[in-house]
Amino acid sequence: MPAEDSFFLADFLENKQGKSALDIGTGSGIIAKTLSKNFPLVVATDINISALRKAHETVDNCICCNAADALRYSFDLIVCNLPYLPSDELLDPAVDGLHDGVDIPSMIIISASNLIEKNGKLIFLTSSLADYDALIQLCQSIGFDTNIAAKKKLFYEELIIIECTKN
Ligand SMILES: C[S@@+](CC[C@H](N)C(=O)[O-])C[C@H]1O[C@@H](n2cnc3c(N)ncnc32)[C@H](O)[C@@H]1O
Repeated sequence: MPAEDSFFLADFLENKQGKSALDIGTGSGIIAKTLSKNFPLVVATDINISALRKAHETVDNCICCNAADALRYSFDLIVCNLPYLPSDELLDPAVDGLHDGVDIPSMIIISASNLIEKNGKLIFLTSSLADYDALIQLCQSIGFDTNIAAKKKLFYEELIIIECTKN
């Protein structure tokens, strides 16, 4: 089910425009549906086939795979509402990010990084509960300019949207 983080990211993306977009970890499909308003091609992936079957009711191009590993295409925009909670084990892929909330996000970012056009964007949502500085450093080390584009304080954490531009 979409939650506060989903709506925050969907609102942020509402006016983005381009030719092609990829939503990694689409879950309910809320982000992919938002992108469909302004992108003629939207692809959605998720590792959870049950979530993806539900998303497929409203999103045409759904692919069950790890991150973006099954794709060979260059997108203008790749987005992900990352599973960012620090965890010792990967019990719930919707939220568990492993060490410092960065291991799973790092793997997803690396998988996405080669599928973005020059000057294209990678936009992801993380949280103050994760070591988001490590994710920023990772993005810079693999060829992105980075910018903390939006923040939203909740009761127990701050949601953070990071916008990366491929240089
Ligand atoms: C925080 S939820 C976000 C769901 C939806 N995008 C939203 O904003 O409401 C993270 C999603 O990423 C998916 N996910 C986790 N690890 C993944 C991986 N390695 N590859 C693809 N999807 C993954 C989960 O199944 C889950 O649907």
